[in-house]
Amino acid sequence: MPFDRALKIAPSILAADFANFGAECRAIEDQGADWVHIDVMDGHFVPNLTFGPPMVKALRPHVKTVMDVHLMIAPVDPYIEAFAEAGSDIITAHIEAGPHIHRTLQAIRAAGCKAGVALNPGTPAEAIAHLLDLIDLICVMTVNPGFGGQSFVPLEGKVATLRKMLGDREVHIEIDGGVTPKTAPGLVTAGADVLVAGSAVFKGGSVEDPAPYGANMRAIREACD
Ligand code: DX5
Ligand code: ZN
Repeated sequence: MPFDRALKIAPSILAADFANFGAECRAIEDQGADWVHIDVMDGHFVPNLTFGPPMVKALRPHVKTVMDVHLMIAPVDPYIEAFAEAGSDIITAHIEAGPHIHRTLQAIRAAGCKAGVALNPGTPAEAIAHLLDLIDLICVMTVNPGFGGQSFVPLEGKVATLRKMLGDREVHIEIDGGVTPKTAPGLVTAGADVLVAGSAVFKGGSVEDPAPYGANMRAIREACD
């Protein structure tokens, strides 16, 4: 996975048709998605349940780009190997998910994946000051994790602080939650390069009629130009 800081849209399949995930992944990629964002929830770290490694594995043949796996689970470590073997390119764990995030990030890289750290809205940028050389991505949550379609928490200042902390390190800053053509530009200006979007990408479209997915992604990109 070569590094670049060009703007990337990563649709979250949390907003896709759950009975049709494979076709939905192909549809969003055909329509211009850069990455595919996969939200794993355990009903414990977050108050919602989605799916685990077998689903990620089943989706792998349907995703040509990057499988960006966001783990909203605790504990994380017992499942890293399974998510890596399922074909994840990036595995992101929450700093709030346990006392040993340093070990978790090392384990993700040791399993052959890019390592991401996610921060809930209430967690300050400085919390990851000692992790900067262990990460490939920071996921800044702009909603409280657990559900799609929630309203955006404005955290442009936090994004700008993180970008400054990173210096010239090759680390992506990803935004997750409430991304729309309205909220995206300020985040990109502040230093984000990956925008996760669920409802704003999938609204109005379907596997049978995927053109709205493309139009929705273009609307986000054009707002950020
Ligand atoms: C929330 C998830 C997000 C979610 C974003 O816990 O991590 O990826 O799907 O959904 P929207 O874009 O609808 O806020
Ligand atoms: Zn997510």
